Amino acid sequence: MNVSVIGLGQMGTRLAQAFLAAGYQTVVWNRTRAKADALAAQGATAAATIAEAAAAPLVVVCLTSYGAVREVLDPVREELRGKTVVNLTSGTPETAREMSAWLSGHGAGYLDGAAMSGTQLVGRPEALFVLSGDAGAFAAHRAALASLGNVVHLGADPGLASVYDGALFGLAWGALAGFYHAVALVAAEGVAPTAFAQAAAGHMPFVTSLLTEHARQIEEGRYPDDDGTVNVHAAAMDHLVHASAAAGVRTDIPELFRGLLELAVIGGHGADGIASTAQALSKEGAA
Ligand SMILES: NC(=O)c1ccc[n+]([C@@H]2O[C@H](COP(=O)([O-])OP(=O)(O)OC[C@H]3O[C@@H](n4cnc5c(N)ncnc54)[C@H](OP(=O)(O)O)[C@@H]3O)[C@@H](O)[C@H]2O)c1
Repeated sequence: MNVSVIGLGQMGTRLAQAFLAAGYQTVVWNRTRAKADALAAQGATAAATIAEAAAAPLVVVCLTSYGAVREVLDPVREELRGKTVVNLTSGTPETAREMSAWLSGHGAGYLDGAAMSGTQLVGRPEALFVLSGDAGAFAAHRAALASLGNVVHLGADPGLASVYDGALFGLAWGALAGFYHAVALVAAEGVAPTAFAQAAAGHMPFVTSLLTEHARQIEEGRYPDDDGTVNVHAAAMDHLVHASAAAGVRTDIPELFRGLLELAVIGGHGADGIASTAQALSKEGAA
């Protein structure tokens, strides 16, 4: 079976290389031809026209924007009938649903998706890709898509992958923002970022272990205080705000966290476990 990759930027090039490494005949197309030629030197077939790329049963697209995807695929929309289009371009749930309606209307199977692990891990099992949309199309191309990494189908709603994309992006930034603040704090005391990173990495398995348990608590609406109450964490966060200010580093991050804990206290969760903070952040809590 052959696959095609349309868009050979940083991500698209890695996608094509992963398909090649897994032994798939890989047709590549890019607006700027030189990038396709570079991949042809690695075993890909450089498509002379976009129609040639649209002829593969599995067409993977990764461009800068949904507008660009529409622009590139519009001339070949009829050729895509009966094919599966996997769109790994970043967008919003709305643009994903619109793209799905448009391509489904032309008889193509559509999967919207997001690459969650940067470019360097693509092709390895730890590279997470989230997809959603046409379940039949996913089942038909599951093996080829597994060439890219850990490819997970989330459900039939084509907007869901984009929802996860944003949610996981925010999760990563939450962790990284805490890390950047921590690095600034310890650096003010003469600790090298690389030295601190070792302790940070050693702490993360504990943090990760909380996710499943706290998710269960959020679902059940019961917040045992096994990991400390909101009040206890609020007091500790006061210390972090104070220590940061005393060290001369910005307090934005711990103040943000303190604000969230205050919201939980206002919501009546002071004596509950910290997962109750999720209640204050939820749609119901915001209403
Ligand atoms: N790079 C990452 O680490 C990463 C990680 C996760 C997700 N993503 C997502 O993957 C997508 C692509 O990212 P990238 O890093 O590969 O970007 P990139 O290196 O800037 O490549 C952009 C690609 O889009 C093409 N393109 C842009 N406008 C076009 C148009 N109007 N018509 C035809 N082709 C057009 C470019 O063609 P030319 O070569 O001709 O300019 C190029 O192939 C983005 O949505 C990004 O958010 C990237």
